[in-house]
Order: sequence, then C-alpha cells, then structure tokens
Amino acid sequence: MDSRNSTPSRFFGRYWDSLACKCVIFVMIVLVFRAFCLPSYSGYGGTGQTKLFTFINQSPASITKQVQGEKVKFLEVPQIVWGLNNQKIAFARACLTARMLNRTLLMPNLSASLFYKEVELLKPISFEKVFQFDRFNSHCKGFVQLGRYGEVSNGTDIMELQKGSGRRWTIEKDLDQLRMFNKHPLDQYEIIRIVGKNPFLWRDHWPVKDYAKVFQCLLLVEEISREADKVVTRIKEIGLEERRKAHSPQNDLNLSLEQGPYVAVHMRIEKDWMIHCKKLEQRLSTKQICSSKEQIMQRVGNILRLKAKIPIVVYLAVADDLLEDNSVVSGWNEGLLPYEKKRLGVLDIYKKHPYLIQSAIDYEVCLRADMFVGNSFSTFSSLIVLDRTQKMIAMGITELCGMDVRWPSYAYNIGDESGGPHPWATNMSDLSLQAISYGTNNISCS
Ligand SMILES: *[C@@H]1O[C@H](CO)[C@@H](O)[C@H](O)[C@H]1NC(C)=O
Ligand SMILES: *[C@@H]1O[C@H](CO)[C@@H](O)[C@H](O)[C@H]1NC(C)=O
Ligand SMILES: *[C@@H]1O[C@H](CO)[C@@H](O)[C@H](O)[C@H]1NC(C)=O
Ligand SMILES: *[C@@H]1O[C@H](CO)[C@@H](O)[C@H](O)[C@H]1NC(C)=O
Ligand SMILES: *[C@@H]1O[C@H](CO)[C@@H](O)[C@H](O)[C@H]1NC(C)=O
Ligand SMILES: *[C@@H]1O[C@H](CO)[C@@H](O)[C@H](O)[C@H]1NC(C)=O
Repeated sequence: MDSRNSTPSRFFGRYWDSLACKCVIFVMIVLVFRAFCLPSYSGYGGTGQTKLFTFINQSPASITKQVQGEKVKFLEVPQIVWGLNNQKIAFARACLTARMLNRTLLMPNLSASLFYKEVELLKPISFEKVFQFDRFNSHCKGFVQLGRYGEVSNGTDIMELQKGSGRRWTIEKDLDQLRMFNKHPLDQYEIIRIVGKNPFLWRDHWPVKDYAKVFQCLLLVEEISREADKVVTRIKEIGLEERRKAHSPQNDLNLSLEQGPYVAVHMRIEKDWMIHCKKLEQRLSTKQICSSKEQIMQRVGNILRLKAKIPIVVYLAVADDLLEDNSVVSGWNEGLLPYEKKRLGVLDIYKKHPYLIQSAIDYEVCLRADMFVGNSFSTFSSLIVLDRTQKMIAMGITELCGMDVRWPSYAYNIGDESGGPHPWATNMSDLSLQAISYGTNNISCS
C-alpha cells in the first residue's frame, strides 16, 4: 500500500517542482512584457485589450466551425399541430428527417390549442415552453440536435422542399425525395425548409427504436413537471388516508407518501371516440377496439395483482366532457377508489394551462402510475406504454410482461383468460411506429 502510494506522490512532487519552476519563469516574463507593453496599450485607449477579449469570448462552437471550414446546416419545418401525441410523433419525425439529411433541426413551434381543421387558429407555443431545450440537445447529442434561429448565418440561403400528400404520394416517393435533398447540389443550401400541409403526420421511414430515442430526450420543463407533481401528490395523499381508514391488520401501517401506489386508467368512452371506434371495428372486423365503461371497470377489477393492493386509488384520465358524468366514478369494485381531476380537487391546476399542457400533465400522471391500463388503439395510451417499457429497459429489467413486472401496463380493449385486461408492453424492435402506436392490437405480451 505504502510503496504504491509513494511512487505517484514522488512523481507528483517532481512534477510540481518543475511546474513551479516554469511558473516562476513565466510570471517573470509576463511582468517584463507588461512593464514594456502595457503603456502603449493604454495609449490606444485600451482598444488592444478589448480586441483581445472579444476574440477570447467567441463561443467555442463558432471557432470550431471556422476551423473545420464546414457550415452547420439546418432543417426548418412548419408549426407542429394536433394533439399532444400527434405533436410528439410529428416532432420526432422532423428530428429523424433532419438526422437523415445530416442537419440541425431549427426549433419548431408546437401548437397550444387543438383545432383540427383551421390551421390558422392553432396558437403557436415555443418548443422550449414545454420541453427543455438544453436537456434535449445534451441527451440527443450525436443523434439529433436542435438549433435556434439566431444560429443561422445567412437567412437567404434557403431551399424549399415541397412534401407531397394524398394516396399517390407513396412512402418510396417520399424517401427518394429526401435522398435527393441529401445530395449535391441540394445539400449545399444552409437551410432546407419543408413546406406542405402537416407534412409530418403521414409518411414514416423509421423503426420504433429511433422514435424512442427522440422521445427519451424530451423532458418537460420544470414548471409543468411541478404541476404533475402536485397532482400525483394529491393522489397519494388520498390513497394514504384511505388505507389508514381501512386499517386492516394485514395492511402495513408504516405508510409513506412515496410508497402510495395508484393505478391510472385512460378511459376512452366519450361520444366521438365511441362513434369512431365502432366504425373502426366494422372496417377491421374485430370486437377488440371499443370497450364500454362497464367492460373497463370489470376488467380492471379482475387484475389479480391489484386485489392484493386494495384499497387503492384509480386515477381516471378522461376527457373533460366526462367530468360531469358521475357514472364514471360509480360501479367500481370495492377497494378501487376512482378519482378524476375534478374529484381530486386539482381541476384548477389544469385549467390554468392551454390544452397541450393539460394533456402533458395527464400523460405524466399516467406515466408515473404503478399500474397503467389503456386502450391499445389510442396513441396517447400507446406512447405511455412505450415510455414505461423504455423506463424498465433503462433500469435493466428484462421481464416486461409476466406477473412481477415493475411498471405493468394493460390493454383493457383486449381481455385475458382471467377476465382481466391483457398485459401490454411495447415491442421495441418493431420496424414501424404504426405497428405499435395507432390502430393495433399487437401488444407484444402473449
Ligand atoms: C454530416 O455533416 C458533418 C458536418 O456538418 C460532416 O462532417 C459529415 O461528414 C456529414 N456526414 C454525412 C454522412 O454526410
Ligand atoms: C413561433 O411563434 C411565434 C409567435 O408565438 C412567432 O413569433 C415565431 O416566428 C414562430 N416561430 C417559427 C419558427 O415559426
Ligand atoms: C447568402 O447566400 C446566398 C445564396 O447562396 C448568396 O447569394 C449570398 O451572397 C449570401 N449572403 C451572405 C451575406 O453570405
Ligand atoms: C418505516 O419505513 C421506513 C422507510 O421505509 C423505515 O426506514 C423504517 O424502518 C420503517 N419502520 C418500521 C417500524 O417498520
Ligand atoms: C417484435 O417485432 C419484430 C419485428 O417486427 C418481430 O420480428 C418480433 O416477432 C416481435 N416480437 C414480439 C414479441 O411481438
Ligand atoms: C400484428 O402483427 C402481425 C405479425 O407481426 C402482422 O401481420 C399484423 O398485420 C399486425 N396487425 C396490426 C393491426 O398491426
């Protein structure tokens, strides 16, 4: 031990000696230099010094760019529209397009409101009002990067890329077009600006893994995640109270808020969804898309793991027009305590924010739930399950289905043998997002 320690310290001793020696010589040189040169600098009113400093203050990035002689090139996309999940998917597609074109994506605007038809009514909201800009770039380094409009050097060096639409605009055509913009001479422009009607909602060229990578870099800004904290804390407080009241001997009395488990159920039972899903069931000749309120309650009540945990709060993520409908909170099995945001008393937290942020808070509350039950035909549910699956993979958990999953998810639109909802995890090696995110009952767990 001692001998091993002494070697480095002796080495450092010698090193420091010689370093100290060099320092003294250097300081002397500087002093001599200052004595002769400084008066002349002051003589020019200090401009010499100022110049010196402006040079040093140049950002490292711009120096590197100059050294490499390679301009950073950008991709510009239109405002991202529609619901939270469509916006996340469209944003990820914009990122993956930029990656394919070897460009930095200029930070796009998202949409705060949800007007399907009239794009002019979509209130823009900056990306960084919702997600952390720096965090995105640090986590996605080497994969995709976001840039600011201030980084663009020549605002006139733009090439427009008109994306096609409609049935004749095939995936292959779309891909060929992107490849063309990645070649000389089109790749020379500083900015490629994508134009077209909602160009990122339709064509898809990337595997689930690539989307997942982008989603992983999206972290809510603190202001919004704090709002989600408040809702989750409220849910846990209620759960704790109820368990204290129930006070059964087998219940652990050493309860803490952190441990308060809860289930989140994304209940899609509002009228327009029911109309949409009935049509879809007819078209795909299946009975596994629409679930009635009663079927959801019954299947959730049959989750075996849940029975061991009652009483437990069931957070109902429902559309606002169902908040007045008291029947969503009645009819649940004993021990399942249904709450939506109104009954929780957190409606005011939501109402302060525009649609997009309300949706982001609800997403977060479902994501953090100990158990999540959703509809496999809903994009909102699907992205939550993707996120939960990814969370487990990141923790090194390999069992994603089975009985002892850490963050279990279920699809209530598909039943299992015991009358419960079917266990659900995302197949991360799937080749397209469509296969896992919308219009599917392929839920990976068998
Ligand atoms: C991508 O761009 C960087 C610099 O902008 C360049 O060094 C690199 O060779 C490019 N890669 C491809 C595959 O074009
Ligand atoms: C984003 O929206 C703001 C208005 O909120 C607007 O001033 C800005 O130009 C938009 N940015 C882009 C890139 O469209
Ligand atoms: C910007 O790019 C255009 C097109 O390449 C070019 O004609 C123009 O001189 C450039 N302007 C500057 C200031 O570099
Ligand atoms: C109660 O829980 C805390 C933390 O989970 C633990 O440190 C403590 O030992 C527990 N006390 C009893 C009496 O079990
Ligand atoms: C996941 O997707 C891949 C690619 O489509 C497929 O080969 C594999 O069988 C799927 N796995 C499961 C469990 O569905
Ligand atoms: C489900 O997966 C199978 C095999 O991977 C595939 O043939 C089928 O089209 C998929 N169904 C849907 C609705 O995606």
